[in-house]
Amino acid sequence: SGGSGGSSADGTGSGHKLTVGFSQVGAESGWRTANTKSVQDAAKKAGITLKFSDAQQKQENQIKAIRSFIQQKVDVIAFSPVVESGWDTVLKEAKDAKIPVVLTDRAVDSKDESLYASFLGSDFVEEGKRAGDWLVKQYQGKTDAVNIVELQGTTGSAPANDRKAGFTDVIKADSKFKIVASQTGDFTRAKGKEVMQAFLKSQPKIDVLYAHNDDMALGAIQAIEEAGKKPGTDIKIISVDGVKDAFTAMSQGKINVDVECNPLLGDQLMDLIKKVKAGEQVPRRIKTEEGVFTQDQAAAALPNRQY
Ligand code: AHR
Repeated sequence: SGGSGGSSADGTGSGHKLTVGFSQVGAESGWRTANTKSVQDAAKKAGITLKFSDAQQKQENQIKAIRSFIQQKVDVIAFSPVVESGWDTVLKEAKDAKIPVVLTDRAVDSKDESLYASFLGSDFVEEGKRAGDWLVKQYQGKTDAVNIVELQGTTGSAPANDRKAGFTDVIKADSKFKIVASQTGDFTRAKGKEVMQAFLKSQPKIDVLYAHNDDMALGAIQAIEEAGKKPGTDIKIISVDGVKDAFTAMSQGKINVDVECNPLLGDQLMDLIKKVKAGEQVPRRIKTEEGVFTQDQAAAALPNRQY
């Protein structure tokens, strides 16, 4: 059909319906559920056939899924890498098969930039910095030690690495801030609760919890309440994502601040995929725009939260 005058509902405007293989991290959090829905809805809207695969937070499952997409000769592979390292071999296989790869949400640490076309997602270091900035402001003019416990995301994942780095970078300027315990809660509610229970047992004085995502913060809130303490008051809580359940907890005073991370990447991702397939020039890195929400904003913002 030559590429002109085709319907734009076919994904390319050229009469060929695009097939995209998408390897998702898992279903570990409210954020992830919203992200999956956004990608699936956007593919449908764009007339793209989406082959969806859930890796259940395991890199080996993602590698298998990508190899299967290569075998099926999909037009484009999109994926959100569970961890940052260890992708070069499989990405090279996709490159050799001439199937372009688009990263979404999370990054890889591959040195060879030719292994993927573009990366669409949040700036996780910036999110960590925003969390740190709030804390520094909160304790301005005070000199007593501030004991912080940290619930890290999935070990080796870009958001866990970067949110830790950004936060640490900001708070290290003032020695009163001390991270007294830091452990992974794998971005899930169950693990967030379990690890917080252990923190509460081992730490005599906890002033602040920094959770790398809302699900872990929500799990930790249960642990704090069960220990007879008031989340948001006895222990200040900083979280990341901005899902509805966390906004509800914030409006009840249980979370103090939530750094937004937008999961609604579907439409932008489909646009990017079409451009990549059409051979258009695309930016190497596309960042999403996000805000920071405090308790006084939570109740007002809640009815309009989309995820
Ligand atoms: O990669 C984004 C992170 O992954 C979100 O912050 C978290 O909730 C999800 O599991």
